[in-house]
This record gives sequence, C-alpha cells and structure tokens, in this order.
Amino acid sequence: MHYRILGRTGLKVSLLSLGSGGARLMGQEQGLTQNDQDKLVRRSLELGVNLFDTSPVYGHSEEILGHALKDVPRDQYILTSKCHLRKDDEPVTDVQSIYDDVETSLRRLRTDCIDIMLFHGMMPDEAYGEVVERLYPALEQLRMDGKIRYIGFSEPYAIDAGHEAALMGLRNDPNLWDVIMLKYGILNQVAATEALSLSLKHDVGIMNMAAVRVKLPDPALLEELIASWKARGEIPEDSLPVQNPLGWLVNGDVDSVISAGYKFAADHPAIATVLTGTATISHLEQNARALDHPALPESDKNRLIELFSHIVEYA
Ligand SMILES: NC(=O)c1ccc[n+]([C@@H]2O[C@H](COP(=O)([O-])OP(=O)(O)OC[C@H]3O[C@@H](n4cnc5c(N)ncnc54)[C@H](OP(=O)(O)O)[C@@H]3O)[C@@H](O)[C@H]2O)c1
Repeated sequence: MHYRILGRTGLKVSLLSLGSGGARLMGQEQGLTQNDQDKLVRRSLELGVNLFDTSPVYGHSEEILGHALKDVPRDQYILTSKCHLRKDDEPVTDVQSIYDDVETSLRRLRTDCIDIMLFHGMMPDEAYGEVVERLYPALEQLRMDGKIRYIGFSEPYAIDAGHEAALMGLRNDPNLWDVIMLKYGILNQVAATEALSLSLKHDVGIMNMAAVRVKLPDPALLEELIASWKARGEIPEDSLPVQNPLGWLVNGDVDSVISAGYKFAADHPAIATVLTGTATISHLEQNARALDHPALPESDKNRLIELFSHIVEYA
C-alpha cells in the first residue's frame, strides 16, 4: 500500500481508503452481517488501509465501523465522519445540531476524537456562506475541545459536476478547509482544470470519492454513456468502439476497466486517497492491487485526457 500526506493535516493516509456510504453502505442493503462487515474492515487493515470514511446518513455505518474497529489501537486508523447540512429537507442553521451530530458520531464510532469532520454535501450557492458564518465556528469549538482534529467538507453527490462548491472553498477560504472530498476519475476529470491545482497551492488535502461509481462498474451504463457523448458531439463518433468502449485499457497489470478507474483516480499529485465503496472482499483486494501501481501507461492516460477532460457531467 502506498501512503500520501493529506495536505496540511500532515496525516499519512493510505492511497486506498474504505468508504461506508455510496451505493453499498458496507453491504447493509445486501444483507451483510456485522460479522461480514468486521471481516471487510479487518481485511482492509491487513491490506494497509488506514482511513475509514463514514457519515450519520449512511444507515448504520457509524455503528458498524465502531464495532469493527473496537479492538484496533486508535492510533492505527484515521476516521472521517460528517455533519448534516440539511435535516427534513431544511437547511441546518442551528449550531446545536452540529454539536449534537458530533456527539452522536463519537458515541457510535466508540471514540473520543474524530480525525476529520466534514460538512456533508456542501452546496455551491448562498448556503456556502451560511455554513461558513454560522456553522463553521461550532466545528472550530469542537476542535478546541479535542473532539475533532481537522475540518473540511464534501461536495454533494450527483449535483455539482463542475465542483463549484470546492472552488468556492478553495478560491475564497482556503485557510478554513483542511480537507475537501470531491469526485475525480476517468469520466469525471473536471477537477483537474482548477480545483486540484488550487488544493495543491493551498495545501488542502483531497479525498477522492465515488471515483468509479456509477458508470465504470456497469458495462451497459458505460456503453450508454459513451453513445450519448458521441451523439452530443462530445467525442468523435469513431473514437471508441460501441461495445466495451474502454476495453483497450485492460492490458499489462491493468486487469479490468474498474482497476483502470482506480489507477487514474489516484494518478494526480493532489489526490491523497481514493475511497473505495466496495462491500466485497475480493473487490477490495483487487482495488488495493490496482493501487500497488497507481498509474496507467502514459499513452492510455493521455488518450483518456484527450477524450474526456472537457466533459462536465456527473458520470
Ligand atoms: N457527498 C459525499 O460525502 C459522498 C458522496 C459519495 C461517496 N462518498 C464516500 O466515498 C465512498 C466511495 O464512494 P462510492 O461508494 O461511490 O465508491 P466507488 O468505489 O467509486 O464505487 C463503488 C461501486 O463500485 C463497485 N466496485 C468497486 N470495486 C469493484 C470491483 N473491483 N469490481 C466490481 N465492482 C466494484 C461497488 O460494488 P461492489 O460492492 O460489488 O464491489 C460499488 O457499486 C463512499 O462509500 C462514501 O464514503 C461521499
């Protein structure tokens, strides 16, 4: 496992980290038992993963992780959790809600300190200013109280393809944010235009979320997406085959299109860690193997950049 430094936090984080949200929620939807989830976490640790991401909105993920990690020395893993920005479809404006969320997360995770606390799903609009003005001071207080160590935010899933929220944070208040969680991958390269270079400039740690979900792991969805990009003139009609359009990435040590996806997702100097949201141990092992060599052949990488870097769409 490779390790990288997560921006100004100075934390040495594993290049592959385990997410307990996304489509799988650590297998909660597929009927995995706590025993299965303990094994998933144990295998992650064996593979060198030292960072686990969760949120109060990921079903019972916080409790599941708390159980799975209860006998692991606390200095051997890093925890990221999040606080709500919306409750019952209304924006959270009450700072007490932030204090309550963090206390609840601490209890569920069976710890007295969460390393990184993120505002969950920052919207790229006037809500950003409200969060900074009203809610950020609560996290600062919690940091002074020793209940959290670093502060950041994640961008909303499937909404902010242009990374407007991350750009607001990085352009306006880079000193406030130790960490930003955003999506960067083969089919979502926009962050490389500005957000990732700004994060390097300001030493803001980047966690890469949903790097392959949802189109890369699903051949039918991927074919449909590429066809739609051809139809819209985003890529030339003859640039990729109709079937298995990214199959040419599979060669040498690249054993699947998904492995290519995780490699590409890690192959940017601003990315400290790539979350995998898998709930399947064999997939976890495959993804860890993919990041043993976190780069695609230069010519394949350049071809992907040439094909997709200009496309602004959540894929
Ligand atoms: N706004 C936010 O804060 C936000 C939003 C999105 C995600 N996140 C965080 O980022 C984490 C990762 O995002 P994600 O869950 O969308 O992750 P992802 O790793 O991009 O995608 C996970 C999906 O890919 C499949 N997959 C992974 N490896 C595979 C393999 N080797 N072979 C076949 N299929 C594979 C998984 O299915 P299998 O289970 O079958 O492997 C799952 O459906 C989340 O768990 C969460 O912690 C945060």
